[in-house]
Amino acid sequence: MSAKPVLNVALVGYSFMGRAHSNAYQQVNRFFADCPFEVRRKVLIGRSQGPLEEVAKTWGWEETATDLNLILGRDDIHLVDISTPNDSHHDLAISALKAGKHVLCEKPLALNTEQALEMFKVAQKAKTSDGKPVRNGVWHNYRRAPAASTAAGLIRDGKLGEIRHVRAVYLQDWLTDPSCPATWRMTAKTCGSGAHGDLNAHLIDMTRFLTGLEFDQVAAMQETFTKKRPAAGQKGKSITVDVDDALLFLARLSNGALASFEATRVAAGRKNYNRIEINGTRGSLVWNFERMNELEYFSFDDEPRTQGFRTIMCMNGAAHPYAGNYWPDGHIIGYEHTFTNHLYDFLVALKSGKPFRPDFADGVANQEVIDASLASAKSGAFVTVPHSQKFAKAVEPLRVQAKSAGIAG
Ligand SMILES: NC(=O)c1ccc[n+]([C@@H]2O[C@H](COP(=O)([O-])OP(=O)(O)OC[C@H]3O[C@@H](n4cnc5c(N)ncnc54)[C@H](O)[C@@H]3O)[C@@H](O)[C@H]2O)c1
Repeated sequence: MSAKPVLNVALVGYSFMGRAHSNAYQQVNRFFADCPFEVRRKVLIGRSQGPLEEVAKTWGWEETATDLNLILGRDDIHLVDISTPNDSHHDLAISALKAGKHVLCEKPLALNTEQALEMFKVAQKAKTSDGKPVRNGVWHNYRRAPAASTAAGLIRDGKLGEIRHVRAVYLQDWLTDPSCPATWRMTAKTCGSGAHGDLNAHLIDMTRFLTGLEFDQVAAMQETFTKKRPAAGQKGKSITVDVDDALLFLARLSNGALASFEATRVAAGRKNYNRIEINGTRGSLVWNFERMNELEYFSFDDEPRTQGFRTIMCMNGAAHPYAGNYWPDGHIIGYEHTFTNHLYDFLVALKSGKPFRPDFADGVANQEVIDASLASAKSGAFVTVPHSQKFAKAVEPLRVQAKSAGIAG
C-alpha cells in the first residue's frame, strides 16, 4: 500500500485531449517516483454513455457519469479536469471551483476575456472543503517539453541578452480540403475563434513563458477561405464557418521587442508545425515542436571561428528538465510526455503550496491578446492590449511569489 495521499480525478471529455490527459494520469506515478500523490482515475464524464464506457475501460477509469454536477457533491473527488470544447470551459470550471475542487482546464481558457476573468476571480476565492485555497492550471503543455523548458531557463539566465524579436508560426493543413466537415472548431459560438484561439493561443503562451514579457500592442489580419462546410453526419446540409482559417498578427512586447505570429489550418503539408524563434542581443534560440527534443542555439559569445547555430539534444537527464525521469540520455520522448510533465509540476505545486503556471491568471493574459488581435483584424487598426487594471492588481502578488520561487514568466 502506498503511503502517499490519494488524489482522485474527475475528467470531463474523452476524445483527443481526454485521451492525452488520461494517459498523463496513468503515467505520472510510474515515471515520477517523487510524485507527491497517488493519482487515481476516478470518474470519466461525457454526454453519451455508450462511447464513454468504452473509453473508460480502455483508459482505466473506475466510474463514468453523464453530468459533472452529479459528482461535485462527493468528498472523494479532489481534482476536476476539463478537456471539452471551449464553450463549456467557463461553466464547468465555475461549478467545480464553487464545489471546492482543484481545476485543470484546457486552452484557450474561455471563449473570451470576460469569461476568463470571471473564472479567474471565482478561482481566487474558492476554498476546498477543509478551507485550503483551490488550485488551478491551464493545459499549455508545450511549456513542459524538455527543450522548451530548457530554452526558458537559458533566457532567464541572460544567455540571449535583451530580447529583440519573437517569430512564431503554428501551421496545420487539415482544413485545406473544402469538403472537410464542420465541427465545433469552426463556429464562433462553440470555439470563440478558429486557428487563432486554437493555435496562436499556444504561441502567445509560449512567448510569455519563454521571454517573461507581456504583449502591449497588436495588429492582425484574418481570412476564412472556405465559408461553408458540410455538416458532419447530416447529408446535404452545410454550416457557415464564422471563424478564421488563418490569423496573422504583429505585436510589440512590453520591453519594445517586435514579434510576429501566424496560425493557419490551410498550410499544405504542414501537420503540427509549431515553431518559435527568439532573437536577443547575445544570441538566438529556436524550438520546433516537430523536432521537440532539440533546441537550436546561436551565441555571439562563441569564438568567431565556430560561431553558428548548434543543435542541442535536450535529453540529458543531468542537464535538462524532465529528461531524467524517462529513459537513458538521448532516448527521446514525445507529445504525450508533455502532459505527464505538466501534471507532475501541478501536483508538486498542489502539495507544496507553491505557484503553478500557467494558471488562470495566465489564461486571462493569453485571452486578452487573443481578443485584442481579433479586434484588430476586424477594425484594421493597431489595438492596445488592455491588461485590465483590476486583474493586474490581483495578479501582481502571484507573479512576485512565482519569481521568488524560480518559476519563469
Ligand atoms: N493542449 C493541447 O495541445 C490541445 C490540443 C487539442 C485540443 N485542445 C483543447 O482541448 C479541448 C478539447 O479539444 P479536443 O481536441 O479534445 O476536442 P474533441 O472534439 O476531440 O473532444 C471533445 C470532447 O468533449 C465532449 N463534450 C463536448 N461538449 C461537452 C459537454 N458540454 N460536457 C461534457 N462533454 C462534452 C465530446 O463528447 C468529446 O468527448 C479544447 O478546448 C481544445 O482547444 C488542446
